[in-house]
Amino acid sequence: MGLRGMRYRIIALVAVLLAVVDATATVAAAKPEPGCPDSCGNVSIPYPFGTSPECFLNEDFRITCNHTFHPPKAFLRNSNIPVVKITIDDGGLHITDSPAQVCYNTASEKNVSWSSLSLASFTFKNDQNKFTVIGCDSYAHIEGYIGNRSYFGGCTSWCDSDDSVTNGSCVGFGCCQVEIPKGLNEINITAYSYNNHNDVSSFNPCSYAFVVEESKFSFSSTYLSNITEDFPMVIDWAINGTCTEHLCGENAWCNKTDGTTYPGYRCHCNQGYEGNPYLSNGCQGM
Ligand SMILES: *[C@@H]1O[C@H](CO)[C@@H](O)[C@H](O)[C@H]1NC(C)=O
Ligand SMILES: *[C@@H]1O[C@H](CO)[C@@H](O)[C@H](O)[C@H]1NC(C)=O
Ligand SMILES: *[C@@H]1O[C@H](CO)[C@@H](O)[C@H](O)[C@H]1NC(C)=O
Ligand SMILES: *[C@@H]1O[C@H](CO)[C@@H](O)[C@H](O)[C@H]1NC(C)=O
Ligand SMILES: *[C@@H]1O[C@H](CO)[C@@H](O)[C@H](O)[C@H]1NC(C)=O
Ligand SMILES: *[C@@H]1O[C@H](CO)[C@@H](O)[C@H](O)[C@H]1NC(C)=O
Ligand SMILES: *[C@@H]1O[C@H](CO)[C@@H](O)[C@H](O)[C@H]1NC(C)=O
Ligand SMILES: *[C@@H]1O[C@H](CO)[C@@H](O)[C@H](O)[C@H]1NC(C)=O
Repeated sequence: MGLRGMRYRIIALVAVLLAVVDATATVAAAKPEPGCPDSCGNVSIPYPFGTSPECFLNEDFRITCNHTFHPPKAFLRNSNIPVVKITIDDGGLHITDSPAQVCYNTASEKNVSWSSLSLASFTFKNDQNKFTVIGCDSYAHIEGYIGNRSYFGGCTSWCDSDDSVTNGSCVGFGCCQVEIPKGLNEINITAYSYNNHNDVSSFNPCSYAFVVEESKFSFSSTYLSNITEDFPMVIDWAINGTCTEHLCGENAWCNKTDGTTYPGYRCHCNQGYEGNPYLSNGCQGM
């Protein structure tokens, strides 16, 4: 086959791809079907998110609403990651997770649990979350992926008594924080101890590590004795693919997201309009 023939084939292939994209766009415009639930418990579920294929744009946006909880609880896709809030304007998905930890008892036996989260085409918002380690004989690793590129980070936290730390300060005394990179979509956090918490066991038996939304976290010396809470984090969501105006509703515009993992786009209501720009008539004049 000559060069010309090859070019023809490439053009034909591009045309087929465009046709496929167009077909899915037409299907997408018909969604969500009437009657889709707009909330799960007290979490509202705006389109493109939804609880069933007639209601979400694609599997990335599936929310599982589990009615065995009272009120019902929302989870991301088929995971056990609880979803507490979804925001449209900044493409935010608020979730919670328990910290990774390693605890030592008086016999120096350890009990480890790690934390691992896989977000597929979504990523952690790098400007709003911090990797955080708590403990007085502690360090932790955060391993993960930025698309197919592996990432490895860590932080160390040390102190010699629980009154030598400062509430609200996370600079290495009992608490350590570092930034996370942009585009991280998969993490596995493991907490460690240098010396089995031997010298600090009376007030700090465990090392803890987690990613947390910076504005919702303030270090307290009480965390050194025991952490039982889950911490909030913010995920960046966008729609896979390139910006095509007709994928947004009327009176809305489209912008490309700069997530480094996958190309994506988001919709926004035009100035003077508000509502859900992903619905065909979602943006209403104010
Ligand atoms: C939703 O309900 C949970 C548990 O009942 C509560 O902790 C949370 O604050 C509520 N969230 C909102 C946004 O009302
Ligand atoms: C709902 O949650 C319960 C309790 O955690 C679990 O056993 C059940 O499998 C969940 N159901 C679905 C559909 O995820
Ligand atoms: C380890 O921790 C888990 C959960 O906190 C607990 O159920 C388990 O009994 C602990 N194991 C040991 C050996 O302490
Ligand atoms: C990672 O992805 C990039 C872009 O998608 C590709 O060029 C590269 O070959 C991939 N690397 C590996 C190791 O798969
Ligand atoms: C930090 O605040 C907690 C209450 O939230 C208090 O019990 C503790 O004593 C304070 N620690 C220090 C070192 O000031
Ligand atoms: C997370 O890391 C720990 C320690 O390296 C490892 O044992 C565990 O298998 C990893 N978990 C996942 C889900 O990758
Ligand atoms: C941590 O706190 C929880 C609830 O406050 C309690 O049930 C648990 O026994 C405590 N664990 C330790 C090791 O103090
Ligand atoms: C989004 O893009 C990534 C990378 O190309 C792909 O692996 C994933 O399946 C896509 N998701 C959807 C729903 O198309």
